[in-house]
Amino acid sequence: MKLLRISHLGIASPTLQEAMERLEKIFGIQAEHIEEIADQKVRTAFYSVGESSLEYLESTDPEGPVGKFLEKKGPGIHHLAFEVDDVDAAVKELLEKGVRMIDKAPRKGAHGNRIAFIHPAETGGVLIEVCQPEKH
Ligand code: CO
Repeated sequence: MKLLRISHLGIASPTLQEAMERLEKIFGIQAEHIEEIADQKVRTAFYSVGESSLEYLESTDPEGPVGKFLEKKGPGIHHLAFEVDDVDAAVKELLEKGVRMIDKAPRKGAHGNRIAFIHPAETGGVLIEVCQPEKH
């Protein structure tokens, strides 16, 4: 697997509105893209920052993964995402190495990415996503 760059940092926030107002006030930046990912029970707001992005996450269901994260840990950094050259090959390689995966196959994520999460127990407590932009 080839890591190309840090694609984005995912940041959990009680509400996108709150996060967006804060980013506008502090840095003068506005979200480029807001999207609901129904099966993950989140709404996301994307901001480009140079070669990487920030992905703000608002839970739409307290029982969803971000809802549980917010309840347990509070607002803050939720995950780190590496862009890889081939996400299917990356997941296959990780599974072959016996790495515990949350996603055993890539699925559709926000912002036109195909993504898979590695279990944080494998990575010292950091939830890591591998992702690849979807080809159009
Ligand atoms: Co992400």
